[in-house]
Amino acid sequence: MRLLFELSGEHETLPRSEVLASIEAEGHSYEVLEEEGMILVVETEASPERLGQRIALAHAISERISSGTISELEDGAGDLDIDGSIAIRMRDLRPKPERTTDSDVLERVGGILTKGRKVDLENPDFEIRLVQGESNYLGIQRASIDRPSFQQRKVDNRPFFSPISLHPKYARALVNLARASEGETFLDPFCGTGGILLEAGFIGARLVGSDIKEKMIEGCKENLSKFNVHSSFFRSDVGDIGKHVGEVSSIATDPPYGRSSSTMREDPGSLYERSFRAFQEVLKKDGCLGVVLPEEKYVEMGEGFLELKEVHKQRVHKSLDRFYCVFKNH
Ligand SMILES: C[S@@+](CC[C@H](N)C(=O)[O-])C[C@H]1O[C@@H](n2cnc3c(N)ncnc32)[C@H](O)[C@@H]1O
Repeated sequence: MRLLFELSGEHETLPRSEVLASIEAEGHSYEVLEEEGMILVVETEASPERLGQRIALAHAISERISSGTISELEDGAGDLDIDGSIAIRMRDLRPKPERTTDSDVLERVGGILTKGRKVDLENPDFEIRLVQGESNYLGIQRASIDRPSFQQRKVDNRPFFSPISLHPKYARALVNLARASEGETFLDPFCGTGGILLEAGFIGARLVGSDIKEKMIEGCKENLSKFNVHSSFFRSDVGDIGKHVGEVSSIATDPPYGRSSSTMREDPGSLYERSFRAFQEVLKKDGCLGVVLPEEKYVEMGEGFLELKEVHKQRVHKSLDRFYCVFKNH
């Protein structure tokens, strides 16, 4: 199937990578057919419904019918073989200065789509997406991302609160980058309040959480139980995780940076080095690690232990960058 992803504009490169990593995590290959800005078209056998349940940094997934000029969309609309009521949703994903109120696409393509079909804006059998970028795209929506659900799991909506946790949508993206998958073992060795474990739990992974502080593990259990997510736990320094777990399929984690989240007075360089060594020991061959690091030099450090697949830099504020990294064990 040719899938059309409407990506969120929250980051330049993370949303695209999250989609592709999620397809791999679902056990499928892909070929990128078209891409521009927040639009990505991919050929894959992965289920759009399943992808829609796991991806965070996108809005909708559609089966792509046609793309190109308005005439090409008109051809696609003419050939569309669907039986039932429709609603047409228009999305303008061109850079803001280029957006206009011109509805040429909607009038011409919409005219063909609605010919002989019932329009039901409230409860249609099919939602048709008309997406405008530099090119135009026509698709039948197969999944929409439940973005408000990420908001509902934000730190301040959890019983055990700490400001150190990533926003749930970025925690989910990290879990997807780590290729966490249903029924496979997933570890967060700096689990803290459980923001990352929660997101891996919703994907159906078999969770293992650990932290050096008992208080964190207790609070994490409380947070997970509020959302009905189950995990096993052990208390351990990151360097000793190999004594507690066997091989794990994936790891996603957000280690302390030594600012608001404490490294227990350890120099961050020493902590990260011990962490990479421990991850290399427990991660299965070809298993992925998704990790957030505060400086580029720690990304280079990781390459001494694991194979670096990708890095995404995110500016948090003037003095804090985050590097979302994906490493693979060889
Ligand atoms: C940035 S927080 C993790 C945030 C977590 N993702 C969340 O959602 O709350 C880092 C965690 O690492 C733990 N930690 C610090 N040093 C550690 C070590 N040497 N081994 C294991 N855990 C450690 C801290 O107790 C803290 O809970």
